[in-house]
Parts: sequence; structure tokens; C-alpha cells
Amino acid sequence: MKKTLALLLVLSFNDVYSQIKNPENYFHKSDLMTIGSYYYPEQWPKNQWEKDIKKMAAIGFEFTHFGEFAWTFIEPEEGRFDFTWLDDAVALAHQNGIKVIMCTSTPTPPAWLVQKHPEVLMMNDAGRTMQHGSRQQISWSSNVYRDYVAKMVEAIAKHYGNDNRIWGWQLDNEPSHYGQYDYSDAAQESFRNWLKVKYNTIDSLNTTWGTAFWSIRYSNFGQIRIPNQKELIAQPSPHAVLDFKRFSADEANNFLSAQYKILRKYISNEQWITTNLMPEHVDVDPTKINSLDFLSYTKYLVAGYDRGIGEQGFRMGSPNSIGFANDLFRSFNGVTGVMELQPGQVNWGKFNPQPMPGTVRMWIWHAFAGGNKFVCNYRFDRPVTGGEQYHYGILNADKETMSTSGIEYAKVIQEIKQLRMLYDSSAQAPQYYKNRQAAILYSADNRWEMDNQPQTNQWDYLAHLKRYYGALKQLGAPIDIITEQKDFAKYPVLVVPAYELLDTQLIERWKLYVINGGHLILSCRTGQKDRNGKLWEMKWAEPIYNLIGAKVPFYDLLPETIYGKISMGSAFFKWNNWADILEPTTGTSVWATYLNQFYKGKAAVINRKLGKGTVTYVGADTDDGQLEKSVVARIYKEAGINTASYPEGVVVDWRDGFWIGVNYSDHPFTLTLPNLSKVIIGNKTIQPAGVSVWKN
Ligand code: GAL
Repeated sequence: MKKTLALLLVLSFNDVYSQIKNPENYFHKSDLMTIGSYYYPEQWPKNQWEKDIKKMAAIGFEFTHFGEFAWTFIEPEEGRFDFTWLDDAVALAHQNGIKVIMCTSTPTPPAWLVQKHPEVLMMNDAGRTMQHGSRQQISWSSNVYRDYVAKMVEAIAKHYGNDNRIWGWQLDNEPSHYGQYDYSDAAQESFRNWLKVKYNTIDSLNTTWGTAFWSIRYSNFGQIRIPNQKELIAQPSPHAVLDFKRFSADEANNFLSAQYKILRKYISNEQWITTNLMPEHVDVDPTKINSLDFLSYTKYLVAGYDRGIGEQGFRMGSPNSIGFANDLFRSFNGVTGVMELQPGQVNWGKFNPQPMPGTVRMWIWHAFAGGNKFVCNYRFDRPVTGGEQYHYGILNADKETMSTSGIEYAKVIQEIKQLRMLYDSSAQAPQYYKNRQAAILYSADNRWEMDNQPQTNQWDYLAHLKRYYGALKQLGAPIDIITEQKDFAKYPVLVVPAYELLDTQLIERWKLYVINGGHLILSCRTGQKDRNGKLWEMKWAEPIYNLIGAKVPFYDLLPETIYGKISMGSAFFKWNNWADILEPTTGTSVWATYLNQFYKGKAAVINRKLGKGTVTYVGADTDDGQLEKSVVARIYKEAGINTASYPEGVVVDWRDGFWIGVNYSDHPFTLTLPNLSKVIIGNKTIQPAGVSVWKN
């Protein structure tokens, strides 16, 4: 299979997409959510499989997941495929009432392949070629590798594509280079080809990249290398960097689409195809993966990076982590699942604490609340050899007793069964809940651009976005995280955090949205550049002045230890990361004002009415999110939208007729429920790491 330029350019795969009817149909609504667990038959002597799988069934797992790292067992020698062992494992699963997710094992090419073709290996930014001995060491741009992938995927598709014991397919595993980028010769060539398709002429590239600056000017595409800070003395062209990030994401999409196409040629329409993405990872843009049946995600919250809320937050993670993933992944086409969820202590974190007892169960319920069709646990069997020895599984290493999270899984499995009996297919979300519906406009382009030019080391795009996310959740709002492809009209509130890159059409769409009654919240850094990252040859961020009813003469940044002050009504806030200084024009109200620094008295938050809706611009980015929270609450209040008021860490969502409350804080929270409510799981008081489920 040769990857042609046309394929790169078009990325259309419309023929493939048309086969995706309604992804909802892959799952039975009355099952609510199905729970499964990973298993690695190839990592255990065969005489242990039956016992393990029987145990899996006894706990109540309804599906398992095979083969994403098993290429060397599937194709032990070039061209010789062996499915006998996998057939036996599939048969055992089936005999025990367990469905199978089958994977393409592309992250782990066999040693023979790499030995014969070292050119398939990826290269990191320091010019080091990755080697065999772990996983994900290959270049998606290598045509040689892609040829092998095509043959292996075809073989497995032919073998299992019409086997109704196979529920669905996962492509690769967490397709990503784990924060690294590929600089191999294959990637360099593929990037140049991508640029040729995008720009057509070298002059056009020179103009967009601003190569007159520092005499970078190219006379042909062959002179271009991937912008790599490690081989450059000073900054690369930011436009080149943005293109490289876009290219890398397209390359991932293209790699997955190619596998999808092969599978779809052979497999039954009953089987679905997904991949498992890491929502926060930035080298792959989930919004660009556009030809699978749906996307699923993986989530590990407690590894020492996320301190969560309060003193015990490091044992639970932050509620915005699963929440953000739910609301982003579900919003693509209405269907998502959690393909991997942390099963307790892990081995790869900054430090690897025990999750607070109950937390794994709470995460599963949070995934349920966010609409997931399934949750799959990584992994059933605790590894006793290999690179993840300190990682929990459902079973302990004795293969007899269950780990703490195994016990929590077993509990949720029974609870879900209880809920299924109460499922009412005609249940509708209450109107007051629907009225709170908000969307957050997300864009990887903006994230890439600001990651490359943060302007202050305190800028963090995702943290900024999640401050608004958290503010909305505390008001009890359902949220969709959407891209520009979606219609804004159905959302009463639309939050647009730091939308640096835009064009006038987008501004017009926002304007229309507001005129028709929407409440638009824009935040700092919005509108500074065009889609290629070029500053406007106008006043700073001038294209948005008319919409927001203000000028943005300049912005300011502070050192880590100095805080700026802001007042809004009688409340005071502090900011430290970013401040757009605002000068409102007539008709715009000032909601908040800077209280110190040389621009004391200037506007920090402004609001105006436009048509039937409102536009609010929040100039500052705070660390604690308190300003953002107050602004969002005021917008809802002034719009007459009824809200809840949950403490930080408490999340309440509605799904399929059930209310679900989870508590990531270290204080118990008591719900105020209508008299007729029926609490099904837990009780009115949700303990830290606790769950309540009720019906009103
Ligand atoms: C995931 C990965 C799994 C496993 C797990 C360990 O990111 O997809 O294969 O390595 O981490 O926590």
C-alpha cells in the first residue's frame, strides 16, 4: 500500500464514512454501560487461560480486549500468520459469555521486521533513532512499515472479520509518540509532500511562513526540514511549527484511516472500529481523527501529576479530567467509551500513590454519567514480568485474590445490573437541566500555537479551558466540548477560551449566534492572529473589537510571585497568568476592573447586549479560577437560567433517567433532593470518593 499525495491531501475517505450508519446502533441503550477488562493470553502459559477467563466471567465482566501488543505472536515470521493461539483464547472468552474487542497490534512490530528494515524506526528531536525493545518505536510515515501493517491488518481482518464473537475493533494502542515527534527521514519526506500539497508553490509557503525574516527563504521544497528547536540556534518560524503539528496530527489520522479502510473491506457491519486516544495528549488531535466509527479514550488520574482538590486530591485526581474527556469524546458523534481506566496504583507516574478507597468505583460512575457506552479496565492480570511490574490489575499476582480496585469493579458491575432493571427508555432530561446546556469551543490549532509561543511560562491552554469547564460544572450545567464543525445555535451558552487563531467568518458566526439569543463568553488571547498564525496588520486583536464592544490596546504578564488585583462588584480576585487590558466603547458595561499596576482602573471583564443575546469578554486568566467562576455564574443569573451551586469537586449529571453524583473533594456533600426522589445507590450524603445515584 503506497501512501500517495492525493491520499494525504484529501483525507476524505468519504466512501468509508458512508458505511458508518448510526454508531448508537452498535450498543443497546438498555445495557446502559458495559464493563470489560484487558487480558493478555500471550503473556501467560496456556494452561492458565481458562482459570483466568472463568474468573473474569465470575466477576461479571462482559467483554475482554485482546492483542494490541501481540504482533510477534500473530506473525512470528514474515508472511506466516498464526491465529491458532488467539482462536483458543477467543473460544474461551465466548464459552464464558465474554465478547472480545480485537486489536491491530501495530504499536509493537516484531524484532524480525525491525531487524530487516531499520528504516521503519522513528527518530526523536535529538536525532536519536528509537530501537526495538519496548513499544511505539516506529514511524507512521514509513511506507515500508505501512506495507507490513497493511498485510497484518488484512490477515487479522480476514480471520476475525465475520466472527460474531468479536464485538468490535481497536486500532493500534493510544496512537501517539507520547509527547515526542517523529523526525525520521520518512517523516521529513512526508512533511515536505504535505507542504507541497498545501502550498503548491514555494513562494506561497515563503509568504505564509514569513521566511523573509532571518533570510530563511526557500527556493524549493527539498530544502525544508521539520522545524526542530534542537537543531536550530534561535526560534523556528512559528508558522512552520504550526504546520508541523498539523501535519503530525494528519499523519496519525491517515495511518488510522488506512487501517480502517482495510478492516472495513473484510469485516461485518455489526463490528465497530475505534481507537483509544489520550484526551490531553497533544501530538495527535482527536478532532482530526475523522474516519473511525467512534473514538474512545484512556484515563489515568492518580500518578502524582494531578493534585486534585484539597489534601487528598492526589488520590482522586481532578473531576475535570474524566469530565473533559467524556464531554469531548461524546461530542464528536454522540458515541464514546473508556477503553482504559486506571485500575489502582500505576508504575509510570511522578509518584504513584494508592487511590483513595472507592475512587476507582467513582471514576467508573463518572464515566457512566458522561454517557460512555462502555468502560474497560486495564488490566485483568497483574503483570509479574515486563515493564509494568508495579502496576495494579483486577487480580493480584497470586491470580486468586482480587485487588482493591478489582473489588470496586465487581461492585459497580452489580450496581449497573441493578440500574438496568430500572431503565426507562422514555425518560427525558428535565427542562431546567437542558436550559443550562453549554458548549466549549476547543481547537488544537490554538493549543499548538500557544504551546509554541506561550509568552509566559505560566500560560497553560488546557488549564485555562478547564477553569471555565469547572465553573460550568459547579452550576450543574451539561457541557459539550465542540469544534467549529458544530452548529452553535442549540447551546444557550457558548464559551470560547483563548481562541487566538480565527477568521472573519468565525466572528460573523459568533455574532449571529448572539443576535439570535446565545450567550457568548470569550476569553483573553482571542482573535490575535489569522489561521496561519499571522498577526493582523491592524490594531491588536482588532477584528473582534466590534463584536466585544471594546478595544484591547495591550496585554500584561506578571512574575510568578506578584499578583494583579481585580474587583467585580464587592468581590476581589487575583490574577497572575495573563491580562488583556480592555477599553470599552459606548454601550458596553464594565463588570470587573484592574485594581493595581499602571493600568489601574481599566476594564478586566466587559459585557454587552447584542440582539437577543450577550457577549462577555474576560481579559484575565487566574490561577484559582474564582474570577471565571463568578463571571460565568453572573451570566447565567442575568440570562434567567436556573442553576445549581455545587462545591468544587462535586459533579452531578443526568443520564438515561438517572441522576449521578460523585465527590472528588475531601468533604462529604449532602444533596438536597425533592421529596419524591428515590436514591438507588449510596445515599443523600456523598462521601469523598463516593457515589450516589437517584431518580427524581
Ligand atoms: C496506557 C497504555 C497501556 C498501559 C497503561 C499503563 O497508557 O495504553 O498499554 O501501558 O498505560 O498504565
